[in-house]
Amino acid sequence: MTQASSQQQRDILVTSALPYANGPIHLGHLLEYIQTDIWVRYQNMRGHTCYYVCADDAHGTAIMLRAEREGITPERLIDRIREEHQQDFSGFHIRFDNYYTTHSEENRYFSEYIYRQLQKNGNIATRKITQSFDPEKNMFLADRFIKGTCPKCKADDQYGDNCEACGATYTPAELINPRSAVSGATPIEKESEHYFFKLPEFTDFLTQWTRSGALQPQVANKLAEWLDAGLQEWDISRDAPYFGFEIPDAPGKFFYVWLDAPIGYLASFKNFCNREDVDFEHFWKVDSKAEVYHFIGKDIINFHALFWPAMLHDAGFRTPTAVWAHGFVTVNGKKMSKSRGTFIMARTYLDHLNPEYLRYYFAAKLTGGVDDMDLNLEDFAARVNSDLVGKVVNIASRSAGFITKRFDGKLGTVTEHEKLKEFIEAGEDLEAFYEAREFGRAMRRIMELADIANQYVNDEQPWVVAKQEGQDEKLQAICTNALNMFHLLMTYLAPVLPETAKASEEFLNAKLDWNSRSERLEDHNISKFKPLMSRVDMAQIEKMLDASKEEMPAATGKPAQPAKSDNNEAISDEIEFDDFAKVDLRVVKIVKAEHVEGADKLLRLTLDLGHGERNVFAGIKSAYKPEDLEGRLTVMVANLKPRKMKFGMSEGMVLAAGPGGKDIFILSPDSGATPGMRVM
Ligand code: MSP
Ligand code: ZN
Repeated sequence: MTQASSQQQRDILVTSALPYANGPIHLGHLLEYIQTDIWVRYQNMRGHTCYYVCADDAHGTAIMLRAEREGITPERLIDRIREEHQQDFSGFHIRFDNYYTTHSEENRYFSEYIYRQLQKNGNIATRKITQSFDPEKNMFLADRFIKGTCPKCKADDQYGDNCEACGATYTPAELINPRSAVSGATPIEKESEHYFFKLPEFTDFLTQWTRSGALQPQVANKLAEWLDAGLQEWDISRDAPYFGFEIPDAPGKFFYVWLDAPIGYLASFKNFCNREDVDFEHFWKVDSKAEVYHFIGKDIINFHALFWPAMLHDAGFRTPTAVWAHGFVTVNGKKMSKSRGTFIMARTYLDHLNPEYLRYYFAAKLTGGVDDMDLNLEDFAARVNSDLVGKVVNIASRSAGFITKRFDGKLGTVTEHEKLKEFIEAGEDLEAFYEAREFGRAMRRIMELADIANQYVNDEQPWVVAKQEGQDEKLQAICTNALNMFHLLMTYLAPVLPETAKASEEFLNAKLDWNSRSERLEDHNISKFKPLMSRVDMAQIEKMLDASKEEMPAATGKPAQPAKSDNNEAISDEIEFDDFAKVDLRVVKIVKAEHVEGADKLLRLTLDLGHGERNVFAGIKSAYKPEDLEGRLTVMVANLKPRKMKFGMSEGMVLAAGPGGKDIFILSPDSGATPGMRVM
């Protein structure tokens, strides 16, 4: 470390939000983990101590119910999901110092400890509340586990707190014909004692804390509105059955998952400190000189910027240095959608594309703000190809061959002092951009430098010089200049592209060290150049979208089981009656139904329309045996544009209802209808 000695060495602890242990990691999640990982890698490159911890968020009703459905213990379920999450993260080169679980002894310890502190300070209240209760399952039902008909627009199958059809908000008691989404039973009202954290006591503290620079201005403004409106006490208990930690001296009462989830940050770090012999107190004591940052999505701001600092403050810990929220990922301009194939799982992406493409694309579009970010797949391919392959890697591939062939792999002397000085000094702008999470500005500055480097090579034309007699020294100098520029570019890109950075270090036979970047590579042996990155091919993207479509449970239909909110598609934008009338629904006869080799969920159906046949793939394998379908009638969308899927063309779609799994229903009554009949 040379230049860094002038700068203060920092001790930093960083977290990303803890993903729920009841579903796979998708590209939306990855924005956050990639953003955090880039920031952490940058800090480490600068010579700071920067730890990055995370964990699975393992508690709550959804996980309990899912384990029950799968016939396994919640412990087994969360172990399996944690394993999958860790594989997904490592596939994207997310480098945690510790990846733990909230279902741990450390977390139980800290949850109980903090709770007792709050209680000792008189900030826990208890009182009876009335809630919906499932008399068959013997459990209380959170709003999203109750479904029924919207009291306003009469749309059926709406959740207990708001209507996805008309946007009305209401209480579950107002639903028409309410039923438990767990058992189908009609809920009753039942009283029970709950525990509350007295958040209003912290109004002054929070008013000051939220204005202390710990939050982005937009976030602080939003919170000021809430603070003005007055804070409510926070219900931190849930009644058994619940998968979580039992509250001390309160049998049958459990901590609400959102109480112990952020405490999971402490627990994961504690687990790391014990293993690596790091001083936990140094980071978490009041007035600590160490820095603590939480990276989160904008949907969970209140938990991190109100409840969490108040709890920490009251329990005698330091509060975070900052909480940084980011926006939400959309794909091709729309909310990620299963039917469009844009609900892309981390695993599906990794099966088809290089993770560094996504790291770069996200970096190129990230700001320090909370704006949503669109992943436009054509723009994604164009950007990666033009910037990384066309600009950065190209500089090396145009210069390396001459050094290897003509100079025995040895660089000469740098002659472009002014240009290199600009490259080195640009590092100071980039430091400010990385620090402020303005990764998009950093990437733009780096690409400006790449343009300068390419222009230099274009102007000097080493391929022409190579053919001239007696110009060896000049040729070697051109390539040495270009490769020194490449060395700096890759140093600046290393937080974003860790694998290409590693390959570049091997190729250049030199470290990419930010702080000693003014040292030149001269009279220095490099290795033989191997292609560092290949172009994105739109065909790979298409394949990824098809594979994501194949993951779909059924042709249509929403899951009846309450899933995590982000697995649940909102009702699409309203359409006009004319749009609806365009849909040509026909009764068809299933003349053939077959398994599709290599597809887990699909059956191939040959459908008789009365005049001609159609080939359709339907995700109904879990519900039907092919032989039970042949000869029966169903309803299809007959005028859907044929769509190329992984296993062939699909020429329409059959309509289905039901929650999925064994319960998908596509057949219509056999009497009174003939193939080809229009349904409406
Ligand atoms: N378990 C809670 C967090 C507890 S933190 C003490 C949770 N989990 S989550 O799996 O739903 O989300 C994890 C993180 O991913 C959150 O910060 C969330 O905002 C983020 N994202 C989930 N979907 C996202 C997008 N589509 N786009 C961007 N970020 C998204 O919330
Ligand atoms: Zn409604």
